[in-house]
Amino acid sequence: MKKFTVSTDRPYDILIGSNILEKAGTYLNTCLPPCRLCVITDSTVNSLYAQVIMTSLMEHGYQTSKIVFPAGEHSKNLTTYSNILEALADEGLTRSDAIIALGGGVVGDLAGFTAATYMRGIAYVLIPTTFMAAVDASIGGKNSINLLCGKNLAGVFWQPSMVFCDCHTFESLPQTKLLDGAAEAVKYAVISEESLFPHILKRDFTYIIERCVSIKKSIVEADERETGVRQLLNFGHTVGHGIEKLSSYSVSHGQAVAKGMVTEARAAYRCGLSPVDVSIPLEEILQQLGFDLSADYSADEIYHYALMDEKISGGQITLIVPESLGKCRLHKISLSELKTFIRLGLAK
Ligand SMILES: NC(=O)c1ccc[n+]([C@@H]2O[C@H](COP(=O)([O-])OP(=O)(O)OC[C@H]3O[C@@H](n4cnc5c(N)ncnc54)[C@H](O)[C@@H]3O)[C@@H](O)[C@H]2O)c1
Repeated sequence: MKKFTVSTDRPYDILIGSNILEKAGTYLNTCLPPCRLCVITDSTVNSLYAQVIMTSLMEHGYQTSKIVFPAGEHSKNLTTYSNILEALADEGLTRSDAIIALGGGVVGDLAGFTAATYMRGIAYVLIPTTFMAAVDASIGGKNSINLLCGKNLAGVFWQPSMVFCDCHTFESLPQTKLLDGAAEAVKYAVISEESLFPHILKRDFTYIIERCVSIKKSIVEADERETGVRQLLNFGHTVGHGIEKLSSYSVSHGQAVAKGMVTEARAAYRCGLSPVDVSIPLEEILQQLGFDLSADYSADEIYHYALMDEKISGGQITLIVPESLGKCRLHKISLSELKTFIRLGLAK
């Protein structure tokens, strides 16, 4: 078992192991006293892992209940959020109780957003079951839901009490979902650690998770509320979020981020912001991994959604610009320049 402590305002541990789900109660006892725990999960994960978690929690002195919503990005919205809040209130969950988020990034974002707002904030523990959630979504306390106008537009910073990751759960993931997590791992390689690439190509999951957690932990500790260096983690996401939304979420987050990273890296080089065109090796690696990098939407369409990007402030957007593979920097441009940036990134 590997343990990382994230030293945010409210510090917490990330535990990473294999075949540890049935011990969840033992580990939760170290961060939560006996209380009521509401497990929030989606329809797919419910049938796979909810029972083992709930049995372990009950054996360790917790009273448990469960809320299940339909699996998929389409559930990450105000309706599901509101249904969960009402269900928690109906059950009489109090401030001394807690939420267990069991699932991928969608469950983590929805359950974390709910935990942050129910009764002005209650504790929650994340149990990520996708590679995507393990390498990225479960770390750093950023939780959001989608609005009709765009992706992740309502959100909070609310740190969990613990992240408890069992890598064995990835064995039930379909290949496409494993690939989604690989896209975020590639992001970490580009912004911070080029030597991650061979491990990603070899699908060395435990090593990749440990390195990504370690990189994200350092970044989050330096900038918990994303006013500076944490924005590097959004590499590929301005274009990626636009693609996700334009596809009505039929293009997954990981697939969209892969397309977004290549587009943004190419644009940065063509605009003279990057000294080298990292989109060339990046494209090769992503294709080797099996990503479809075709451009599905026009610059105008993507620009429309990029205008809702959370990195916009004072009429400018902060771009993440590669200096080399493994090193990026932040660079502000005006919104009028953004359209040209996207156009140059999409042009072949
Ligand atoms: N908060 C953050 O910092 C952050 C970071 C990255 C991504 N995200 C968000 O995460 C979401 C994407 O996460 P995701 O890719 O995990 O999506 P997801 O949660 O929708 O999970 C993908 C699919 O896999 C299924 N699944 C989950 N675990 C499984 C398992 N072990 N075996 C079989 N099937 C399983 C789910 O039911 C779902 O159908 C997006 O909404 C994205 O915006 C958030």
